[in-house]
Amino acid sequence: MLTTNPFAENVLNIPSYALQGFLILMVIFTIGGVLLDMMHKKNVKFFFENAKKAKLSATKSVATGKKVSIIVKTLAHDVATSAEFCGVTRRITHLLGMYGTIFFWIASAVMIFNTASTSTFYPLLWHVGAIMTCVGGYWFWFVQRVDVRAEGNGWSRIVFADLFVLSLVATSTFGLLWSFFQASNSIGLATLFFVLFVISNVVLFGGVYWSKFAHMFYKPGAAIQKHLAEEDGSRDDLPEPADLPKQYGLGIKRSEPQNY
Ligand code: HEM
Repeated sequence: MLTTNPFAENVLNIPSYALQGFLILMVIFTIGGVLLDMMHKKNVKFFFENAKKAKLSATKSVATGKKVSIIVKTLAHDVATSAEFCGVTRRITHLLGMYGTIFFWIASAVMIFNTASTSTFYPLLWHVGAIMTCVGGYWFWFVQRVDVRAEGNGWSRIVFADLFVLSLVATSTFGLLWSFFQASNSIGLATLFFVLFVISNVVLFGGVYWSKFAHMFYKPGAAIQKHLAEEDGSRDDLPEPADLPKQYGLGIKRSEPQNY
């Protein structure tokens, strides 16, 4: 199963051109959803206006070479290693989910556009990516969500903001189950999970406008801007950290922050 391309000779015998059309539709949904989101929230407009405003309170100018090095460092550290998460386990689940999803999407595209290939690498990448997303996603969902971990709500409480994480783990879960039952020739269950796989993808990509999906495009830009603002002294109009030892009192030791 792990080294078989599930899209080639899939259970419903859907031709590769239809699978390719579906994938392109999902890309269009993503681009459309992000553009609509930007127009609705005006966040990109705010971002650039804020960056322009920040420049006015800059205390020094940053050379282009330095700017490039800040951007490269931010991408290599903050973005690639999910360094914005202070909690180690929260960071691990995000890394599992992020890289798992990236592997899964890349492998899906390669396998859908090259169903004739006999390479075992991409099928393996697809299955490993799906498993990583499930481990990271379910770990986050059952244990680490703010409303479960910090606010004491039950794991089964579902709110609209969960649309992204739930549809994300659903695509990986249904994909794995479809592949498993297809490999073991259980046609009925393979058909069921294939249909659920298609529906969960439509929800994930069709729901970009309403979900947290777009954060993967916004967060890197915000992290770069934050570091540039630290370097040019504008610091987003925030005060510099005090040059004093951290003293929060004993209370903070009684209840360690857990959610982030
Ligand atoms: C394929 C790429 C990615 C996936 C699948 C992914 C997945 C997730 C998920 C499932 C959550 C939890 C959402 C929730 O609260 O329901 C999350 C939150 C978060 N992600 Fe990502 N992520 C990706 C890319 C990125 C990138 C590139 C960055 C940063 C540069 C980033 C930074 C964050 C941060 C800071 C949070 C927590 C705060 C928040 O919810 O806004 N993510 N991500």
